[in-house]
Amino acid sequence: MTTNKDIKISTFTDTNNQKIIIKRCNLDDLDGVIKVNEEELPEDYPYFFYKSILDNYPESFLIAQNSFGKIIGYIMWRVEKTPSIDSLRYVNTGHLVSIAVSQGYRKKGIAKSLLTNSMNAIKKYKIHEYVLEVRVSNYNAIKLYEQFNFKISNIKKNYYRDGENAYYMTLKAKKR
Ligand SMILES: CC(C)(COP(=O)(O)OP(=O)(O)OC[C@H]1O[C@@H](n2cnc3c(N)ncnc32)[C@H](O)[C@@H]1OP(=O)(O)O)[C@@H](O)C(=O)NCCC(=O)NCCS
Repeated sequence: MTTNKDIKISTFTDTNNQKIIIKRCNLDDLDGVIKVNEEELPEDYPYFFYKSILDNYPESFLIAQNSFGKIIGYIMWRVEKTPSIDSLRYVNTGHLVSIAVSQGYRKKGIAKSLLTNSMNAIKKYKIHEYVLEVRVSNYNAIKLYEQFNFKISNIKKNYYRDGENAYYMTLKAKKR
């Protein structure tokens, strides 16, 4: 079986001079990813859900590790066929499933790096659009997506289990 374990995507030094590694997620990393998810987001998923994203879209399932190898962030996407925002055609859409960075590591550019590298990786599926949902109260995440030129296309009412609305944000993928 091939392993993605050592597929390193990028290494950078954060604002505290700590080395951060961005790399592809591996099966062994899923417990660490789930831990970050459970600590940082109210939306959690069963193990098989993460595993199925990893099996199907491994290129864009990335993790961030600190210099001790601890997982301190992740991002995962899936690919869907959806009607295009500007025509009736069905196109491949990259749907951001989840992104989170551990509290002590925020505002150091980790999410930016995870997004940049994963959006690049998922292009191999000939993505026409990137889409995502974000809580209308999640100012930090909305600012992050706006930096990538995502625009609010719609509001999904009662999208979250607690009744909060979501912004549906979209971005046309650049042609290669
Ligand atoms: C949203 C989240 C992933 C951002 O991670 P991060 O590593 O801190 O983000 P970055 O350092 O890469 O910041 C990138 C941009 O996001 C925005 N941003 C992030 N944190 C911000 C804050 N506290 N205040 C204002 N803008 C913020 C800014 O535009 C920032 O760019 P800048 O540094 O040039 O101003 C992180 O806050 C998080 O994990 N939140 C909990 C989980 C979550 O909400 N996930 C998104 C669900 S849709």
